[in-house]
Amino acid sequence: MGRGGDPRRRMASKLKIAINTGGGDAPGLNAVIRAATLSAIGLGWEVWGIKSGYRGLFEPEGMIRLDRDAVRGIGHLGGTILGTANRGDPFHYPTLNPATGKLEPADRSVELVDRFKAAGFDALVAIGGDGSLTIAKRLLDMGLPRVIGVPKTIDNDVAGTDVTFGFDTAVTIATEALDRLHTTTEAHERVMVVEVMGRHAGWIGITAGLAGGADAILIPEIPYSIDVVASKVLQRERRGRKFSIIVTAEGAKPLGGEMAIKSAGDEFRRVEVLGGIAERVAKQIGQLTGKETRSMVLGHLQRGGGPSSADRVLALRFGTSAIARLADGAVSGMVGLRDNDVVLLPLDEAAGKTRLVPTDKGIVMTARRIGICLGDEEEGSFAGG
Ligand code: F6P
Repeated sequence: MGRGGDPRRRMASKLKIAINTGGGDAPGLNAVIRAATLSAIGLGWEVWGIKSGYRGLFEPEGMIRLDRDAVRGIGHLGGTILGTANRGDPFHYPTLNPATGKLEPADRSVELVDRFKAAGFDALVAIGGDGSLTIAKRLLDMGLPRVIGVPKTIDNDVAGTDVTFGFDTAVTIATEALDRLHTTTEAHERVMVVEVMGRHAGWIGITAGLAGGADAILIPEIPYSIDVVASKVLQRERRGRKFSIIVTAEGAKPLGGEMAIKSAGDEFRRVEVLGGIAERVAKQIGQLTGKETRSMVLGHLQRGGGPSSADRVLALRFGTSAIARLADGAVSGMVGLRDNDVVLLPLDEAAGKTRLVPTDKGIVMTARRIGICLGDEEEGSFAGG
């Protein structure tokens, strides 16, 4: 947030700023880069992009001058023209140990801050999820002159903002996939279990499942009973609905059980990779119902390709707002959407938090009221299906 009396807080006449993208990509990153660049250039500022998270600051040729040409025609493109990194935390930076010939984590944060200041940058626009925003806050505290964060993730789980860009695109892709899977699943009278992303939050699962007409939706916020899910499939069978679609968020877990973990984190990326829940659920449902059951994982398809129109507009709003706040003299903060207004929140608003799907209202209640099974005992309390 802007700090009254802070010597760094001043009306910006002409700033030299850097932009980076960190963590997993999300459709809309390029639209933020374009919006921030064009609005900063409009103020007469100089704009640079840091390649691959923070890596560009440590390497020759690691910085890209962002001018009008550099950001022309990128707003509708997926990915990020700057590249991104999951293993680029400057506090645990992969660094070659000449003695062992191996990459080992090293704290290069002080060097990073020195390089940033030596290059004459006045501010960083850090586009990332809660991990990247937490790193940006630590760097601010160590002496980066100013930092404005822009929250991104398809998971929609960043605390402080009502929505993140990338989410709408991921939901649209997953919904289209469910529409396609419906026809083949019905034709073969099978059960199809579809795994979507989202880490510890079920936003993609519940939203795409609802939009795509799933019969059961499993999300991390509501631990499931496999017997309840199997009952739903058999209930449909008795009503002549010989097929069922089950959507499971990758972070869903059984009552009293654990999430499916594909691989553990490592010393550079200290979070586990989730995956495998659809296969697990499909096997159990097949055994419990006797029905032919298949599973599929939508995976990175949900992050690929261009952003939806809603994500483009949100990304453009976030990018321009980040620059407008710097122009107003803000030293730090995170832009976020609250009641459809872009606001500036504390930079550490999202740190260490996960915004989960509320289970007693909103979209969860919509799903319950139309009889979608959520894997718990309250299943089907309002309608059949
Ligand atoms: O956070 C975004 C996300 O796509 C999650 O939904 C998923 O668990 C994770 O990233 C996958 O990470 P990676 O791209 O490293 O496989």
